Amino acid sequence: MSVNYIILQGHSGLRWLILLAVLIVIVKSLIGLFARKSYTKIDNILAVSFVGLMHLQLLLGLVLYFISPYVKEAFRDFGLAMGVSELRLWALEHPILMILAVVLAQIGRSKSRRSTDDLRRFRIQVIFFTISLALILIGIPWNRV
Ligand code: HEM
Repeated sequence: MSVNYIILQGHSGLRWLILLAVLIVIVKSLIGLFARKSYTKIDNILAVSFVGLMHLQLLLGLVLYFISPYVKEAFRDFGLAMGVSELRLWALEHPILMILAVVLAQIGRSKSRRSTDDLRRFRIQVIFFTISLALILIGIPWNRV
C-alpha cells in the first residue's frame, strides 16, 4: 500500500463528511433564517467543523498534488497535458475549483463570525456555503466514485 494510495483514500472518504457537514449547516442556517432563531453555540460548532474539514481536505489535496502520478505526468509537458482531459482535470480544474470552494467557505465563516446580527449570520452562511457546495459538487470527479 503506497503513501499515495492511503492519502487518496483519506481524501476520497473525507468528501462524504464534508458533504454531510455542509448540508447540515445549510439546512440549519435556512431554518434559523426563516424561523428567526438565535445563532447558538451548536451553529458555531457546525460552521467551524465544515470549514475545518475543508482546510484538512485542502491539505490532503496539496499533498496529493505533489505525489499524484497524474499531476507528475501533466508537468512533464503542461501545454500538451492541457489537451488531455484526465490530466487537465487533476493538474488544473479540480484543484482550482476546490481551492475556490475552500476560499468561499472561509470567507463565509469569517463574515458570519464578525456579524453581531444572528439572522445576518445565517444569511451569510447560506449564501457562501451554498456557492462552496456547488463548486464542490462540480469539482468532484463523480465518475470515479
Ligand atoms: C472540498 C475539497 C475537495 C474535495 C471534496 C476533493 C475530492 C476528491 C475526490 C473525490 C478525488 C478522487 C479520489 C479517488 O479517486 O478515489 C480527488 C482526487 C484528487 N484531488 Fe481532491 N478534493 C478536494 C480538494 C482538492 C485540492 C484543493 C487539491 C489540490 C490542491 C486536490 C487534489 C487532488 C488530486 C491531485 C487528486 C487525484 C490524485 C490521483 O488520483 O492521483 N483536491 N479529490
